[in-house]
Amino acid sequence: MYLAGVDIGGTKCAACIGRANGEQVEVLCRAVPRATREYTPAGMLEALAGDLRDCLAALPAWERAEGIGISCGGPLDSRAGIVLSPPNLPGWDAVPAAKILSERTGLPAWLCNDANAGALAEWQYGAGRGCRDLVFLTFGTGLGAGLILGGRLYEGASGMAGELGHIRLEAHGPVGYGKAGSFEGFCSGGGIAQLARAFALEELQAGRSPALCPDMAALAALDARRVGEAAAAGDPLARKILREAGTQLGRGLSIIIDMINPKKIVIGSIFARCYNEIWPAAREVLEREALPAARAVCEVLPSALSESVGDIAALSVARYHIETAEEPV
Ligand code: BGC
Ligand code: NA
Repeated sequence: MYLAGVDIGGTKCAACIGRANGEQVEVLCRAVPRATREYTPAGMLEALAGDLRDCLAALPAWERAEGIGISCGGPLDSRAGIVLSPPNLPGWDAVPAAKILSERTGLPAWLCNDANAGALAEWQYGAGRGCRDLVFLTFGTGLGAGLILGGRLYEGASGMAGELGHIRLEAHGPVGYGKAGSFEGFCSGGGIAQLARAFALEELQAGRSPALCPDMAALAALDARRVGEAAAAGDPLARKILREAGTQLGRGLSIIIDMINPKKIVIGSIFARCYNEIWPAAREVLEREALPAARAVCEVLPSALSESVGDIAALSVARYHIETAEEPV
């Protein structure tokens, strides 16, 4: 089966064509438009539609592409195919993404929350294969969850299920989702950068000069990637920062386990990259806070598709809708 995918992210957008067959998926053609900020959202979608048309025209049997899956950060209205106003996609306000892509390619298009799309991808091809009760968390620019419950994607009454980044874990803390101390505040790239700056500032103000951030001038350059690399190399301050993110992840996971009783929780992006540094602290909290009987049946795993999830997630959305025969927009 030939499928098209569009992955809309805060830092990059991409279009792709793929072929899916049983547990195999292969990306055949991929296009990334020039810098995202040169486009309005509608202009970006038009550019992506043009890229898709080029990719499709290069296929021997292009009429066999069955539809376009669109993966995008929420909040969004998946049934209407409209992106609302995602905190991590400034300017994307009430954009009818499915309609634009569908009209310009002649293919049906389905819009899906990026974490839901990641859940479909891990379920079809990754660490969640064959699992009927699965939660996927994306721990990247934002924090979002995709819920596969009883062998189906659960979207809630209006497509907003799994907006866990919004949940407040602490009264104070790094800001995510416009809220200090939120799950996204602690468990996202931006949150880790904020924690890093706060912890480093404390060190500097105490007259110390930590390797991760030897002076005030180095503060601004601290980001999640640097913290992750330094922690893996054994840097004590970086490890302390990821321990804090891990502790908060453990609290969030405990809530998920108590509420959903999943068989697997699969976590992508930063967690998949920094598993050894983040997981021990998260596990400690889980063992203390989650209901033991629910905790005992739940396996927490780094995502198998990891950083390559974007294209595959978008293709998985198309496949899911084709196979469950839901009406496209
Ligand atoms: C959004 C979610 C999204 C997540 C990851 C959050 O800020 O509200 O819809 O899944 O970021 O991109
Ligand atoms: Na979601």
